[in-house]
Amino acid sequence: FTIHTQAVSESCPSNIALIKYWGKYDNQIPANPSISYTLNHCKTNTSMEFFAGETFSVQTFLSGNEEVKFAEKIEKYFRNIEQYLPWILKGKYIISTENTFPHSSGIASSASGFGAIAKCLMKLDKEFSGSESEEESLRKASFLARLGSGSACRSLYNGLVVWGTSDEVEGSSDLFAVKYPDTEIHDIFKNFNDWVLLIHEGQKSVSSTVGHGLMNTNPYAERRFQEARDNFVPMKEILKSGEIGQFIKLVEHEALTLHAMMMMSDPAFILMKTGTLEVINKIWDFRRETGLPLFFTLDAGANVHLLFPNSGSEDKIKAFIETELLQHTQKNGVVKDIMKF
Ligand code: PMV
Repeated sequence: FTIHTQAVSESCPSNIALIKYWGKYDNQIPANPSISYTLNHCKTNTSMEFFAGETFSVQTFLSGNEEVKFAEKIEKYFRNIEQYLPWILKGKYIISTENTFPHSSGIASSASGFGAIAKCLMKLDKEFSGSESEEESLRKASFLARLGSGSACRSLYNGLVVWGTSDEVEGSSDLFAVKYPDTEIHDIFKNFNDWVLLIHEGQKSVSSTVGHGLMNTNPYAERRFQEARDNFVPMKEILKSGEIGQFIKLVEHEALTLHAMMMMSDPAFILMKTGTLEVINKIWDFRRETGLPLFFTLDAGANVHLLFPNSGSEDKIKAFIETELLQHTQKNGVVKDIMKF
């Protein structure tokens, strides 16, 4: 065994789902397909040192501070993917990560984090196992990232990304994500803003593992999975035609459905805060009064992703956010991102 110490580093962005993944089967198989926007600026930068030949162990640092819990999670993950990377347990790792966005923002650091780790692993794999095409290597990184955190597999590609088998998306798979074809996307969706309003900075009251698990006993789960599959039909048409009004309706419905599912779980979870509802109502009032395309989506938390295209009215929308919406955040925080592709 001739592997020596290697150091690699990679960067991976987070993503925000438009059609949501909530509910899964064994081996990280999603109960329904999902589609997301990759957030260009919310990234995890990871460097990985591999000391070949030493006893398998993992040490992790987040922004310079040692994270023992995270290291345990990564150890378990590495054991889990040994069947795909036979060399993986044959050495010691020191992994240092930092996020370019606040930890408390509710922006999925597990997506960018596992995306970056999977990319680092593929870089090491290239050193050890020889070359694969860029395309194959990305696909395998997406496959590996999925086994760490489902939604992470969508972070390997820029733009709009689909994970989960859908009749509407050629080449889609439950095992890895695929890029939604640029030629099928109207320009309005290629230059989009996502501003995250930091409503609440506390710990999430439900982990996504527990959340997905609650779908197993949710009496509405099957109906929801079918709805998500069905939503790919209008989504495909909307992405092609640029029908922003229909897009808004679909994306907001998906966000509210995710939260409705949690409210109907046993035990029930309400992850929105007062501020979340206030902001949603203000967005709806603003749209009713101005007709401008400002809308929202939510992750499994209280913070609100404000979405709007750069289609001429963005200055008015930004002014509204800065004056009317920022007061509802705990520490007046907003993380600004722009999805350009
Ligand atoms: O990837 P996980 O297991 O953390 O699940 C994420 C689920 C949501 O973020 C709520 C929705 C999604 O599709 O990203």
